[in-house]
Amino acid sequence: MTAGTGLDQALRVPVDLGERSYDVWVGPGVRHRLAEVVPGGASRVAVVTQAAVADAGLTVDPGAEHRVFITDDGEHIKTLGAVEELCREFAQWGLTRRDAVVAVGGGAVTDLAGFTAAVYHRGIRMVYVATTLLAQIDASVGGKTGVNLPEGKNLVGAFWQPSAVLCDTEALDTLPPEEMRSGLGEMAKYHFIADAGLDSLPLVERIARCVAIKAEVVADDERESGRRAVLNYGHTLAHALEAHGGYDLRHGEAVAVGLVYAAELACRAGRIDARRVEEHRRVVGGYGLPTSLPPGADAPGLVELFSRDKKAVDGVTFMLDGPHGIEAVTGLDPALMLETLEAIR
Ligand code: GLY
Repeated sequence: MTAGTGLDQALRVPVDLGERSYDVWVGPGVRHRLAEVVPGGASRVAVVTQAAVADAGLTVDPGAEHRVFITDDGEHIKTLGAVEELCREFAQWGLTRRDAVVAVGGGAVTDLAGFTAAVYHRGIRMVYVATTLLAQIDASVGGKTGVNLPEGKNLVGAFWQPSAVLCDTEALDTLPPEEMRSGLGEMAKYHFIADAGLDSLPLVERIARCVAIKAEVVADDERESGRRAVLNYGHTLAHALEAHGGYDLRHGEAVAVGLVYAAELACRAGRIDARRVEEHRRVVGGYGLPTSLPPGADAPGLVELFSRDKKAVDGVTFMLDGPHGIEAVTGLDPALMLETLEAIR
């Protein structure tokens, strides 16, 4: 992580992936430097953004002929129908494989526009301008793109690395508090993936440090054949809560409860001690996020859903903390999972 030169005072985090390497720039106002990172040779740029972002005045100038395509806000925009619609609009406009797509917005726009870029003309270049905390520290970095099916989230997707990412921290001032909380859940997760002194950092540096942690993991395991799964720490319960529905939790809040649950489970499985569980509670609580199950949570129903998580290729798999850091653990007793859920009510 270094202070930038070409992009003023922004922090630069390299994502080292050989010929697919790129930089993530973090700082207030970095969206205004978009023209500096739009891939060379692109004569047209399709800017895909969402209504709330446009309404908040978060506009960009890619420094080339461009058109703006506005989607709705929210996870429901991630459909194959929306991909087809964007591809058709790109084709009618005449976007070619030498051109580029820029996504300006949060995780849903990033996932949708990224997947569209991955498949349009078998893949065109992509830049993300991430405007939510969740997109900045997670969705825009690492090349995962995708859309949902009625059968589940992100079931259709591709790994498609961007050419650059701009994390404009000025945009965070426009976020509703519940959207910010969503990102804070992911931020809490990074405290346990790497011991990076996050506690002592101001927000912009903390974001850059989270990106650096993710970049290091992705550089080591781009296609999630192993280590990248640590980025799903806290997500098994989070996905079950989301799939069960009806709990009125943002993704980050579900991840927050999932982190505390994973710690309690690891402790009961003899992998970590009570002090480390307390550290999880301190970090999650410190972000003002929930540390217990929502009222009336259906614990047996949640245990049932653990096995339907799409990451559960070998039966129920939990990412659990332990003496060697966070690792995939299978074969846990469902009775222990249930008892631990009851303990975090
Ligand atoms: N969001 C988890 C990952 O990018 O692997």
